Amino acid sequence: MTRPDLITTEILPFTARHLPGALALSRAQNWPHRPEDWALTFSVSQGVVAVSGGRVVGTALCSMHGPVATLNMIIVDEAMRGRGLGKQLMQRIIALAETREMRLVATDEGRPLYRKLGFEDCGQIVQLQGIARPAVLECPVQTGPYDPAVLARMDTAASGLERAALLARIAADGVTLRTEGGFALLREFGRGHVLGPVVARNAAAARSLMAAGATQMAGQFLRIDVSASHGLAPFVETLGLSAVGGGTAMVHSPRARNASAYQTYALVSQALG
Ligand SMILES: CC(C)(COP(=O)(O)OP(=O)(O)OC[C@H]1O[C@@H](n2cnc3c(N)ncnc32)[C@H](O)[C@@H]1OP(=O)(O)O)[C@@H](O)C(=O)NCCC(=O)NCCS
Repeated sequence: MTRPDLITTEILPFTARHLPGALALSRAQNWPHRPEDWALTFSVSQGVVAVSGGRVVGTALCSMHGPVATLNMIIVDEAMRGRGLGKQLMQRIIALAETREMRLVATDEGRPLYRKLGFEDCGQIVQLQGIARPAVLECPVQTGPYDPAVLARMDTAASGLERAALLARIAADGVTLRTEGGFALLREFGRGHVLGPVVARNAAAARSLMAAGATQMAGQFLRIDVSASHGLAPFVETLGLSAVGGGTAMVHSPRARNASAYQTYALVSQALG
């Protein structure tokens, strides 16, 4: 393939017609996203694409969650890397975030660029996946449906993200797991299913929700992205999943937050926090 030309590359607003090209780019990167996964993230996002010769050669999204934006799906075609395109895409989505706090989960490849743009490390995300095994629950867990507004309040208390509509959409298409002091959502994603968010007041509730998710998915592919600081990755491995990587959680312009009884033990996705 001829090397795409940076001079004739245009940066345009990301619209729905760019989704097939964006999907091709993430697949070339071996990312597992299906069209539905791109569409879910795009439904709460604005963004930009780089287009060269009619082909999408770069993507970057800024997902809006009230006072916080998560920046994601930042990809530059391998043949175009190292020539400043990633930085231009980042500068465009940083402008879209306006005054919001910005968060992202960085790959090792992306982290040097984000540091140059003023992002600071704030944690580590561990991606675990595999064929789920049934497990014993410490606390009882029921499956939904539940009032999405109640779930959204717990989620906002834990994360500072305001994303009631997104959670309602995920809950409508997936399964809601509820325990005393927490909830989790299970949905199709990538190669199988993902459990997230897992929001809970304590680790026992979080473990119970994860064990219930694994039991529900026993024999099938399940992914859970946990924050390393909670120390639950070894527990998730007992559910049949293995750590396959992850990323560095980074933040720019963090806002002060009230202390909360709830914490986010697993992410909706690395893109959406
Ligand atoms: C991360 C990625 C988007 C960067 O795109 P890019 O077009 O190569 O980045 P740029 O050329 O704009 O580089 C921007 C700056 O970061 C620096 N940089 C980029 N990659 C770097 C690396 N691996 N190590 C050190 N510095 C790096 C560049 O030197 C440049 O600095 P400068 O402006 O001071 O010269 C690209 O490598 C990519 O698509 N990777 C695969 C997908 C991925 O991991 N995305 C990140 C998801 S969080």
